[in-house]
Amino acid sequence: MRILLTGANGQLGYELQRALSGEDLILADQPDYELTDPQVADKIASTRPDLVIHTAGYKDVDGCERDPGTAFTVNAQGTRRVAEGAAKANARLIYISTDYVFDGKKTEPYTERDPVNPLNVYGRSKLLGEQEALAVCPETLIIRTSWLYGANGKNFVKTILQLAASRPEIRVVNDQRGSPTYARDLAGTIAQMIRRDARGLVHAGGEGECTWYEFAVAIIQETGSDCRLIPISTAESGRLAPRPSYSVLSTAFLHQHGLSLPPWREGVKQFLAEQA
Ligand SMILES: NC(=O)c1ccc[n+]([C@@H]2O[C@H](COP(=O)([O-])OP(=O)(O)OC[C@H]3O[C@@H](n4cnc5c(N)ncnc54)[C@H](OP(=O)(O)O)[C@@H]3O)[C@@H](O)[C@H]2O)c1
Repeated sequence: MRILLTGANGQLGYELQRALSGEDLILADQPDYELTDPQVADKIASTRPDLVIHTAGYKDVDGCERDPGTAFTVNAQGTRRVAEGAAKANARLIYISTDYVFDGKKTEPYTERDPVNPLNVYGRSKLLGEQEALAVCPETLIIRTSWLYGANGKNFVKTILQLAASRPEIRVVNDQRGSPTYARDLAGTIAQMIRRDARGLVHAGGEGECTWYEFAVAIIQETGSDCRLIPISTAESGRLAPRPSYSVLSTAFLHQHGLSLPPWREGVKQFLAEQA
């Protein structure tokens, strides 16, 4: 199959390159495939893909809050352009979305049927991306995931490792709950969804849930660091963009299709073992 991958250099894109290495891959990165370029749809269509996997996006949550113009241009309008490219080529489309489409008022995992209500610009721009993708390619497979980390790119695990190496203590938010997701595990699951020709909306993330503080504790424990972790509140963290206090995604629907990712802590263990 001929698969065009946007954001091929990102955390998920990099792992998808590995998971789909037997396929005919077109790596659609900047600057050749710039989402703000109106020509990007035609560029995508001209490569004649069978499938477009759209992982590229502006995911800096506070950056999006400071610069909504860029957030919407990249995450919403850019997604429309990618979808138009896929439609022109008669290709299937997969769009990667986020747990931040939810407002966090629930106390149990969000299912695919739960109403969305993003709290921040990033979540609103990604939600609009979902709607743009569906408007152009009604059979799009939308995969919402959460708290992603992987070998290629910046993420929470790498930040904690860097801070732990240089500081005696780190303050970490303990009142937001979600599900850490190892990009390699997600990429493997996406490869299986492609084989099954899945369509529609599906939630996929590491099994189980934790706070950012508990996530950090797991990282520190796995590495044997003696850095001290101090739990703090979201208010104390002083971050610009509001974040949902609870954004755990239900994976029950994924399970119905016989698919699952490992428990989040297994993902952390695996990732750290591979970094060592
Ligand atoms: N990370 C998370 O915690 C998380 C959680 C839920 C959902 N998601 C979603 O999952 C997807 C993959 O996330 P990720 O963590 O793999 O992201 P990532 O590592 O930040 O990679 C994003 C990719 O998008 C590219 N990109 C950014 N702006 C672009 C533009 N204007 N034109 C073309 N390409 C552009 C980046 O290129 P450069 O490297 O050249 O900048 C990079 O290759 C994203 O859509 C994100 O919204 C992420």
